[in-house]
Amino acid sequence: MSSDFITRREFLSRVCRYSSLSMMALFFGCDIARLGEGQKKKTALIYATRYGATKETATWIQEGMQGPVDLLDIETISFSDVTARYDHFIIGSGVWIGGVHKKIIEFLESRKKELSGRVLATFVVCGTDGSTESGRKRIDGYFTPLYACLDKKPLLSRYFGGRVIVENLTDEDRQALTVFYKTYLRAELRSWDRTDPEKAALFGGEVKRRLGEKMSVSESTNTLVSRV
Ligand SMILES: Cc1cc2nc3c(=O)[nH]c(=O)nc-3n(C[C@H](O)[C@H](O)[C@H](O)COP(=O)(O)O)c2cc1C
Repeated sequence: MSSDFITRREFLSRVCRYSSLSMMALFFGCDIARLGEGQKKKTALIYATRYGATKETATWIQEGMQGPVDLLDIETISFSDVTARYDHFIIGSGVWIGGVHKKIIEFLESRKKELSGRVLATFVVCGTDGSTESGRKRIDGYFTPLYACLDKKPLLSRYFGGRVIVENLTDEDRQALTVFYKTYLRAELRSWDRTDPEKAALFGGEVKRRLGEKMSVSESTNTLVSRV
């Protein structure tokens, strides 16, 4: 018999060897992929907007974070899905007639237990000028209902300037703001835009750094625990 030929027994044994090797590689590959998924810490940036400035601000924060962050509109999410799917949260809302969006409060209140220690940052987008003492106090007041729903304050909180485009307002909002401007500001309602992409992106960078610190602390704690 020529040496190019192999016996039936040798053929079967080679097939078994190669296929078990490829099966092992396949399983190993799957395990590695799954391990990677499990280890990746996912962050959800949940925002509430009426006229878009908060969504834009959230997008700039996301850009500043330069990492795996999903932007989610509070109006479209399932509270149970997002708490199950993400490890960390950044929560932001516009401010309308004194307060943040009702659904943001509902989300934080109803998921308080699951969110414990996982809300990294909160932010508000508003018209109040934070350069004066009274303005800062008013802005602090916008954060109060958010903090009241959390077991501890987030690592970071920030306010950002928003925007009003008069012709985009609903009749109800235009009337409410007209009265507010006349009564408290003694001025005519006019359009304005104080959104600040750079400030938002810088905040994103800060959140990313704090998240990195938090993760390295929890990793070293886990290592210590597993060594004990
Ligand atoms: C009807 C209405 C009420 C508002 N009330 C407040 C307020 O009480 N305090 C404040 O700082 N800004 C207030 N603003 C300004 C908003 O916070 C600002 O327009 C912000 O950009 C809104 O977010 P959005 O563009 O994502 O909807 C109000 C704006 C509107 C339209």
